[in-house]
Amino acid sequence: MSELRAGVVGLGTMGRHHARVLAGLAGVRLVGACDPDPGAGSALRTVPVFPDLDRLLELDLDLCVVAAPTLAHAAIGSRLAAAGVHTLIEKPLAASAEEARILAAQFERAGLVGCVGHIERFNPVVRAMRERIGGGEVGTVLQITTSRQGPYPQRIRDVGVILDLASHDIDLTRWIAGAPYVKVSAVTSRVTGASGHEDLAAVVGVLQDGTVVNHLVNWLSPVKRRLVSVTGELGSLRGDLLTGTLWFNGHDGGVAVPGPGGPVRVPGGRTDRSQVVGPEPLAAELEGFVAAVRGHAGVVGDAADVVPMQAGAEVMDVTAAILAQPAAVVEVSAATGPADAVRSGPVRVAAQLSAPPGADRVAALLGAGESQTGGLPVLVAGYVPAPGSRRWF
Ligand SMILES: NC(=O)c1ccc[n+]([C@@H]2O[C@H](COP(=O)([O-])OP(=O)(O)OC[C@H]3O[C@@H](n4cnc5c(N)ncnc54)[C@H](O)[C@@H]3O)[C@@H](O)[C@H]2O)c1
Repeated sequence: MSELRAGVVGLGTMGRHHARVLAGLAGVRLVGACDPDPGAGSALRTVPVFPDLDRLLELDLDLCVVAAPTLAHAAIGSRLAAAGVHTLIEKPLAASAEEARILAAQFERAGLVGCVGHIERFNPVVRAMRERIGGGEVGTVLQITTSRQGPYPQRIRDVGVILDLASHDIDLTRWIAGAPYVKVSAVTSRVTGASGHEDLAAVVGVLQDGTVVNHLVNWLSPVKRRLVSVTGELGSLRGDLLTGTLWFNGHDGGVAVPGPGGPVRVPGGRTDRSQVVGPEPLAAELEGFVAAVRGHAGVVGDAADVVPMQAGAEVMDVTAAILAQPAAVVEVSAATGPADAVRSGPVRVAAQLSAPPGADRVAALLGAGESQTGGLPVLVAGYVPAPGSRRWF
């Protein structure tokens, strides 16, 4: 079997890991990389590192991994498709849903393997959760919640937490539930201003099968956390993606305990805790990519162990929907009186800050919200400053 010639574009935090894993894969020869940073070559002394993609393409690549900043994915990916190179692009696939769809179409038209590095699908805990849900262990899934938080990243900040972090959770949620998003809403906040983008977000959504989802993301927490919780009719699964721990708690009709007149049943059920072990997710992801390249029949379908670019584009439809809408704000001041007063009370919305992008739409939504105040306090979309704060909500 002939060796596949591999390249890496972008040798930062993620690109170095890709280079390490590719260099160790059977049947693959890492032949070069490119990165405009003159210091990047020090990370990879075994193969040439060029300052631009043209030189790398002269090495006659079979496959390539793109781990450059997100804003550069579309331009680099287009050139690789035009050059006939099978490509895995890091998540998020591109900077916008439109760019992502163009990329997916380019690779499909060229008959090339085009996939995206949604690595959480290769996390052993996520795989185990999907399998157990598919096996009916929690019954009908009702709710999926994720929490992805950690310290501020010392790396590129060309996008905010929705593209950088929530894209992981959106993809894994769609994947384990087997259903796409149909509604989404979010409150986002820009706290540091360092990236010019949002630093934290609370996302609420609904999947096509009615599952309610919720994602908490930030890069402001001193504690790194990657948690997924799935609640179903028969029980719940909770996974810690960092430690590999998976808990199950079932309803099972309750537990019998001794009572004065004999055993009585109290709520409770089977509980188990397991430590899920599996291959390094990046190695599994790249092995899937290489296998797809070896066996590719033109276009990658869902059967291959890769995440097709089309799926990456669908994740970006969700991130775009979150970022296109202003933050959703619940008017809490209306909830201070007796319940009846709350129900009939007006929904008050604090003044808007100077116009952010799409402010005309915001104003229209605010108007719509105020006109529907006969019932319960409503969710009103708008950018509203916290009292005394310059932060955007
Ligand atoms: N799958 C994951 O878990 C994961 C984790 C981290 C990052 N990522 C993704 O990987 C990508 C890179 O992130 P990172 O954290 O490695 O960033 P980074 O800043 O550490 O590295 C980016 C590298 O790309 C180089 N670069 C810039 N423009 C380039 C160009 N036009 N061509 C080639 N190289 C270029 C930079 O010099 C830098 O060395 C991002 O899209 C990010 O979302 C994914």
